[in-house]
Amino acid sequence: MALLEIVYVPNPVLRAKAKPVTIFDDELSVLIDNMVDTLRDAPGVGLAAPQVNISQRVIVVEYGEPEEDGQEVIPKLYTVVNPEIIKPSRETEFGIEGCLSIPGFVGEVERSSSVTVRGQNRHGKPLRIKAKGWLARIFQHEVDHLNGVLFTDLATQIWQPEELEDGELTGDSV
Ligand code: CO
Repeated sequence: MALLEIVYVPNPVLRAKAKPVTIFDDELSVLIDNMVDTLRDAPGVGLAAPQVNISQRVIVVEYGEPEEDGQEVIPKLYTVVNPEIIKPSRETEFGIEGCLSIPGFVGEVERSSSVTVRGQNRHGKPLRIKAKGWLARIFQHEVDHLNGVLFTDLATQIWQPEELEDGELTGDSV
């Protein structure tokens, strides 16, 4: 396992359309594991392969929805190869996003409130994930990365928060 170097705007890899994965080998598994390590180290809740300078259609997401009763949140890890957003809800919501590749900036972005993600696992087996709320937002943000789209392209407002507690913002960075 290893940490990968996160690339920042204006690196052109962030604007390229990433290539579909066709070979599900050990190299892919190592990439996924290293992306998970890198995501946790950042820390963030989502990471797409172009953000580590690899133009392939791979994302990792780790997120747990806070429970209303205040129980401890146990984040769930999702690794999706060749992800596609299907069935985006017509209903949308606004939320404030950051991005590990655009440090120091946040923006308000309108996203579908729920989506289904279709893709494959690291072995090429088909998978489907139904997501709503913040998890749905993270998946939409990550799949955008595979198409060269950044949250700053979609945001209605972008700003630089002045004071950040350590980790306060990056915890939501994708
Ligand atoms: Co991002």
